[in-house]
Amino acid sequence: MKERVLGNDLKVSEIGLGTMSMSFGYGKTPDPKEMVKVLQEAVELGEHFFDTAEVYGPYVNEELLGEALAPYKKQVTIATKGGIKVVDGKQVVDGRPEELVKSVEDSLKRLGLEAIDLYYLHRVDPNTPIEDIAFTMQKLIKAGKIKHWGLSEAGVNTIRKAHAVEPLTAVESEYSLWTREPEIELLPVLEELNIGFVPFSPLGKGFLTGTISADKEFESGDSRGALPRFQKEAMAANQKLVDVIKEFAKDKEATPAQIALAWLLAQKPWIVPIPGTTKIHRVKENMGAANLQLTHEEIAALTKAADEIQIIGHRYTPELAKRVGL
Ligand SMILES: NC(=O)c1ccc[n+]([C@@H]2O[C@H](COP(=O)([O-])OP(=O)(O)OC[C@H]3O[C@@H](n4cnc5c(N)ncnc54)[C@H](OP(=O)(O)O)[C@@H]3O)[C@@H](O)[C@H]2O)c1
Repeated sequence: MKERVLGNDLKVSEIGLGTMSMSFGYGKTPDPKEMVKVLQEAVELGEHFFDTAEVYGPYVNEELLGEALAPYKKQVTIATKGGIKVVDGKQVVDGRPEELVKSVEDSLKRLGLEAIDLYYLHRVDPNTPIEDIAFTMQKLIKAGKIKHWGLSEAGVNTIRKAHAVEPLTAVESEYSLWTREPEIELLPVLEELNIGFVPFSPLGKGFLTGTISADKEFESGDSRGALPRFQKEAMAANQKLVDVIKEFAKDKEATPAQIALAWLLAQKPWIVPIPGTTKIHRVKENMGAANLQLTHEEIAALTKAADEIQIIGHRYTPELAKRVGL
């Protein structure tokens, strides 16, 4: 697998592996033993960059990675996140320095690591000054507990303030052919400050792969069922974009997932998408996007086609939307 560099010096696989749905988020929880196998086979295939979070599970996703990746510690890069607590079964944003320090210790134990390669603040906490958080991350770096730090779903002003205290290595936010907002303000600021970008949900939570039809009933425990963009009418309207991606895929003898990922890779050399899957054949398929050559003309044509389609439905519920762009 080819590599890219996030920030000044964090070398990672060109396409990472998001592991959230191995424990949480998209319906019935898969068998952890099966997921250990998928993770280990992914490493054997050449995947070296894994994305998890304290809150996935909660907690069990980090444990899963700790178990599965123990034999490969020296060759993999693990990114995890803190700053969202689970209180009475509900997620609460909490970026207080003392809580982050405790979360890092807990994540280190669950992951079986002495240092975390990349530690993100999962959501900006409006009640804690970002400078205090950046200073805490600086102390954690100096103490050797984390090697690099990043922000997730942060606004550009927060990014600038945080970066001025302790340089950020990466920002992780949603970006894909149907979520283009980062192009407006975020990408130019990341380029200016030399911060890497890690797009999450790069396959549109599965929708852009063409495997989710408009009449899909999401089971309980599948967070997509509550999102405006995954309501039936929205999915029926947004199918236009999937049809365009499928057409490109046919021409390039690739799959829709590979086209969606190759388009992201082509946007900037410091972009590293982290598609999530519970299936090893899809890990392989998604990694294959790194070898798909799309010409400038093909990328421009795909961008233009996507520009012409109005995406229906917000990507988040109003409640979740309040936690982004701060
Ligand atoms: N920072 C944040 O706040 C945040 C938020 C959300 C996600 N994330 C991270 O980003 C990662 C990826 O995001 P995501 O899982 O939400 O969305 P995604 O990667 O866009 O899509 C995942 C979905 O696509 C399906 N899929 C994957 N590869 C496929 C392929 N080649 N063909 C057909 N279907 C395919 C998966 O199903 P199968 O399992 O059946 O393959 C899964 O349902 C997560 O694992 C997590 O690490 C971060």
